[in-house]
Formats: sequence, C-alpha cells, structure tokens
Amino acid sequence: MLITFEGIDGSGKSTQIALLREKLQEKGHEVSVFREPGGTDISEMIRGMLLNPELEIDPVTELLLFSSARSQLIAEKVKPLLADGKVVILDRFYDSTTAYQGYGRESMPLAEIHQLNKVASHGLAPDITFYLRLSLEESALRTAQFEKDRMEQSGDSFFQKVYNGFEELLKTESRFKAIDANKLPEEVHADIVSVLGEHLSI
Ligand code: TYD
Repeated sequence: MLITFEGIDGSGKSTQIALLREKLQEKGHEVSVFREPGGTDISEMIRGMLLNPELEIDPVTELLLFSSARSQLIAEKVKPLLADGKVVILDRFYDSTTAYQGYGRESMPLAEIHQLNKVASHGLAPDITFYLRLSLEESALRTAQFEKDRMEQSGDSFFQKVYNGFEELLKTESRFKAIDANKLPEEVHADIVSVLGEHLSI
C-alpha cells in the first residue's frame, strides 16, 4: 500500500508520518518511509541542488529535477517494496509537483505536468493521500524562525498559488483526504488513523 502526505510547509507532515509509522508497526505492518525529493543516493544529490539557495534554476529544469529524483526513488526503492507487500509512506509525491511547479511556478501547462508525473512515477499512483490542510497565515507563523531554503524563498504570491493548487487537487482527486492540521498533533494523528482505518486494518 502506498500512502502519501501532502501540504504546504509547516503543516506537520514529518510529525504525522512518524506517528503513523509507529502505529502501523505496532499493528504488525512493515513500513518504509521516504521523503521527496530524496530517499536514494541520486535523489538526495538532486535534493541538494533543488534546495540550494545559491543556485538559480530555470523552472522547467526544476520540474525535471524533481521528476528525476522521483523516478530514481520509485524504481530503486518504492516499487520493489510494494511488490513485496510492504507499506510505503512518502513525505510528498507528485501532487507536490502539480502544486509547486504546476500551479506555483506555472512552468508548464497542467496537462503536461500530469503526463510527466505519470512518467516519473513509473505509472504508480497513491492508494491514499493525506492532505494536511493549513492556512497560509498559520504556515508562515510556524516556519518564521527557520532559515529558508531555495523553494521557501519563493515569496507570498507563489505560496498562494501552491495553496490553491492543493485545494484544486482536493476537489478533483478522490484519494485526497483533507485533514485539519490546525489541531493538536495527537488529534491530527487520530483523524488520520480513523480515515486510514477504512482502507487498512489498523
Ligand atoms: P522539505 O524540506 O522536504 O520541505 P517540507 O518539510 O515542507 O516537505 O523541502 C522540499 C521542498 O520542495 C518543499 O518546499 C516543497 C518542494 N517540492 C516541490 O516544489 N516539488 C516537488 O515535486 C516536491 C516533492 C517538493
């Protein structure tokens, strides 16, 4: 089973993924977690380029780099694990490409981004996607004290478009499950477990 987490920066994905992994392991599932971009040697090298504030990257190049990092992760790690019956949790997947490079950067028409997402994910689609939903204002408050990477230096209008992109995905993708990320971490976790319980024995 492939479970993905999406949301704007500061929505608490890492905390929720750690809590869910623990819960699933307690119930006897074998769970692997990867972050995107990342998760393999090649993908982590590409991540270094993508987040480096000293680099100026053309929007199409950026789109292709995120896609390349993804292709390697799916081929090298995710597909073999799923074939073995394991649970895989991804901290971001191609919906982030749709939201950030498609809606945010407007680097290519959305139909072409969807095509590229299919190629880069080797045809794999998530079984369920938890969209940790947070307002832009709350996101800004939560991330204010951290140093900003290249993507995070993109400015308010960019993040408004990214936010709109996730909201559009929520309307069109039935696998997208919106979870209120304003609540306390334990409450958010309980909401996730309750929704996932409809799909998996936990
Ligand atoms: P990361 O530090 O992992 O951010 P977060 O903790 O919010 O997930 O950095 C990943 C950044 O890359 C984040 O700003 C979102 C962005 N991103 C894209 O723009 N496109 C993509 O396809 C992916 C996977 C991430």
